[in-house]
Amino acid sequence: MTSQSEMPLVALGSTRLLPLVTIERIADAVPLARALVDGGLATIEVALRTPVAAAAIKEILRHVPDAKVVAGNILTPHDLAIAIHAGAHFAVSPIATPALLDAAVRCPLPFIPGIATPSELMGVITKGFHVVKFFPSMAFGGPEALRAMQAPFPHARFLPTGGTSESELDAWFALTNVVAVGGSWLAPSEDVRAGAWDKIRSRAAAAVARLPG
Ligand code: 3PG
Repeated sequence: MTSQSEMPLVALGSTRLLPLVTIERIADAVPLARALVDGGLATIEVALRTPVAAAAIKEILRHVPDAKVVAGNILTPHDLAIAIHAGAHFAVSPIATPALLDAAVRCPLPFIPGIATPSELMGVITKGFHVVKFFPSMAFGGPEALRAMQAPFPHARFLPTGGTSESELDAWFALTNVVAVGGSWLAPSEDVRAGAWDKIRSRAAAAVARLPG
């Protein structure tokens, strides 16, 4: 088995943008995923924040086979078990508690823990995690914070999320330690509630078009 230091990069593959979606109605899962995939965003993070989240992951996997589904907002070992049971391709957390890291080290699922500070980053590196979510990224310094982390932590790779928007994409991707940028702005809950699938698809396509080559 590949170690947790390598698995997340393999799981992310060519993913550069990771839409985080909150699904309140199971009927929204498939059209939402379809809109994102059609817009060029094939990797989708479903936040485990609603009662239907795990069922939504299964629905997307069943009906949108070209989507890669990530279980997000993993807060506890139990959430990790839910992600595995739902069949998620990998799991992402905004935090990195000792209990969660211990469960993730023993877990076959690629896992990206969350950090906000250099000491938190060192805490996950010592457990073997080199790909981390930087959350909440804009509140903790945005791209400048990750620029500063490059020299002391040359092997760390980051997925910034939290307050991100299309306007900082160039700044994030100018950094060699950023693997992908995540956020809910790619598929806001109000658009999901409104069933605005065309709008979500167009926004996704526009964001993909802005990615550096
Ligand atoms: C996350 O868990 O990554 C955040 O909730 C996403 O933050 P955003 O809603 O500010 O994009």
